[in-house]
Amino acid sequence: VTEPDLAGRHVVVSAGGTREPLDPVRYLGNRSSGKQGYALARTAAARGARVTLIEANTGLADPAGVDVVHVGTAVQLREAVLKAAAEADAVVMAAAVADFRPADYAQGKIKKKDGEEPAPLVLVRNPDILAEISAERAHPGQVVVGFAAETDDVLANGRSKLRRKGCDLLVVNEVGERKTFGSEENEAVVLAADGSETPVPHGPKEALADVVWDQVAARLAG
Ligand code: C5P
Repeated sequence: VTEPDLAGRHVVVSAGGTREPLDPVRYLGNRSSGKQGYALARTAAARGARVTLIEANTGLADPAGVDVVHVGTAVQLREAVLKAAAEADAVVMAAAVADFRPADYAQGKIKKKDGEEPAPLVLVRNPDILAEISAERAHPGQVVVGFAAETDDVLANGRSKLRRKGCDLLVVNEVGERKTFGSEENEAVVLAADGSETPVPHGPKEALADVVWDQVAARLAG
C-alpha cells in the first residue's frame, strides 16, 4: 500500500531525450529511453500527486492518470517546463537535454555533393533549463531536482554540478555503453544541497523514483 503523501501536490517530471534537427530528416540525439522519468511519473501519481509529464521522444505510451505534454527539442522542452512549473510544488528534470543544437536548420534535406568535403557542423548552446528554474523559483519552497549521468568521477562531478545548477537534489549515476540507458534498473546516489548523500542500490527505476519522492515529500513538509 502506497501512502498518499503527495496528495494535493502538483509535480512536473521531464522524461526522454531531446532531438535537435539538422534538416527535415536528421537530428542530434541521445540514448535516453525515458524509463526513469516514466517511473517517476507513475510513482508520484500512485502517491497521490497531480502529475504533468513532459515527454521528449520516448515512444512510450502515456501513463494512466498523468497529464502528458509531448515535445521534441530543448527549446520546446523549456517552454513546456516553464509553463507547468509556474504552479508546481516540485520539478524533476529527468530528461536528457541536448547541451547544443545545430546553429542552422536546413529547410530541405542536406545533400552530399561528389568530391566535396562535408560542411562543418556549427553548434550553438541550448538554455540550461534546470539552472534557470533553480535560480528563478516559481514560488518559495518549490523543490527542484536534477539528474546527472556521469562516466567517471561520478560523486565529485555530481557535487560540483549540484552547486553549479543550484537545485535542491541531484541524482547521479554512472553511465556507459551497457549501463542505465534503456535498462529497467538503475543505481544512483541522491545528493542534496544540505549535504546529505543517499546511495540507492541497484534495483528497479521505481525504487529510485520512490527515494526521490521521499526526499521531495520531506522537503515539502518541512
Ligand atoms: O549538465 P548536465 O547535462 O549533465 O545536467 C543534467 C541535468 O540538467 C538534468 O537534470 C537535465 O535535465 C538538466 N539539463 C537542462 N538543460 C540543459 C542541460 C541539462 O535542464 N540544457
